[in-house]
Amino acid sequence: MAESQIAGKARFDDIRYAQLWEDAEVLVAGLDSRPGATLVSICSAGDNALAMLTLDPAKVVVVDLSSAQIACLVLRMAAFRALNHVGFLELMGAVPSARRSQLLDQAARTLPPGDQAFWDARRPAIVAHGLGGIGKFERYFRILRRWLLPLVHDRRTIDGIFVSRPPDQRARFLAERWNNRRWRFLLKFFFSNAVMGRLGRDPAFFDHVDGSLSDHVQRRINHAAITLDPSLNPYLHWILKGTHGKALPMTWRAEHFATIRDRLDRIDIRPGSLERFVSTGETADGFNLSDIFEYMDEATFAAVYGSILSAARPGCRLVYWNMMVPRRVPEPYRARVRRLRDVEDRGKAADKAFFYSDFVVEEVLA
Ligand SMILES: C[S@@+](CC[C@H](N)C(=O)[O-])C[C@H]1O[C@@H](n2cnc3c(N)ncnc32)[C@H](O)[C@@H]1O
Repeated sequence: MAESQIAGKARFDDIRYAQLWEDAEVLVAGLDSRPGATLVSICSAGDNALAMLTLDPAKVVVVDLSSAQIACLVLRMAAFRALNHVGFLELMGAVPSARRSQLLDQAARTLPPGDQAFWDARRPAIVAHGLGGIGKFERYFRILRRWLLPLVHDRRTIDGIFVSRPPDQRARFLAERWNNRRWRFLLKFFFSNAVMGRLGRDPAFFDHVDGSLSDHVQRRINHAAITLDPSLNPYLHWILKGTHGKALPMTWRAEHFATIRDRLDRIDIRPGSLERFVSTGETADGFNLSDIFEYMDEATFAAVYGSILSAARPGCRLVYWNMMVPRRVPEPYRARVRRLRDVEDRGKAADKAFFYSDFVVEEVLA
């Protein structure tokens, strides 16, 4: 169980996610751990592991199969230490900046030579797009924004989606201005499983996906742009405009900057699989599992879930997302966990990272 199934299938040699496309606020509310807890997080770009520090844990153990993803967290930590909040936002690409190269030097100065060389090779991309814009997933959105979206909507219409207005007017805007024939065609083409696999996600990630991705995306866009207020959505803003607008993801907000910076020494990075961590015999009070279960077949998922339970203390919460593949506590373990439906429902209603179809919070019974 120490080796991970996806490791043999997908390629992990470059940055896939340069920022977290899962809503940290929803995660933190789902974990809701007491101060002093031991938490475990999938790294991805590192933002959500950092957000977990706001729960005042004793430590956050961070795992990832990809050394490039771990490097994203290590550089973020160095940036929290070396920069002020404004500099941090500029380096990340949340706001425009003419001094990213200098900010990168300031942040990377204390890193080992291998990490510095890794980031130096990416300097032109960081200068152009910010650190949060240089992953394969963000490149995929850039293609959408630069080359395809202008064929469908002019700038006024795109800006129009971020005008604050009541829900009934948002619905009218979408129906009358946004969802035209070209948009529907673009969705069908760009979010076809084939194109998304080729440009954004490794095709192996779709091995278990049923149904049309474009229908799913349209449903989620309606949630993000009608049910929720799009003017407060940092993820939608980045996808359509390439920066964050007035709203920022939790980890990048001014109000959490000092708290996160002051607790950085509680981050305990363990490169490698989650499966390897749970086989060490250590235990935890909460797990951020991202959407890793989607990438496993059912038998592997059940085995990994069982091994996580053996590393879970009573009351431990398992928090994870599903995009297209349904994953919840496997049958053999149903008696050992409790589904926190209210917490899930609140999370799903508030989730601004709108790709996911399900948000799961399961509590391990004593
Ligand atoms: C599951 S992906 C999903 C990314 C996500 N939706 C986001 O917005 O960033 C997140 C990370 O999980 C890592 N990962 C996948 N399976 C893993 C496993 N079994 N153990 C450790 N890391 C894993 C990948 O390397 C990737 O960096």
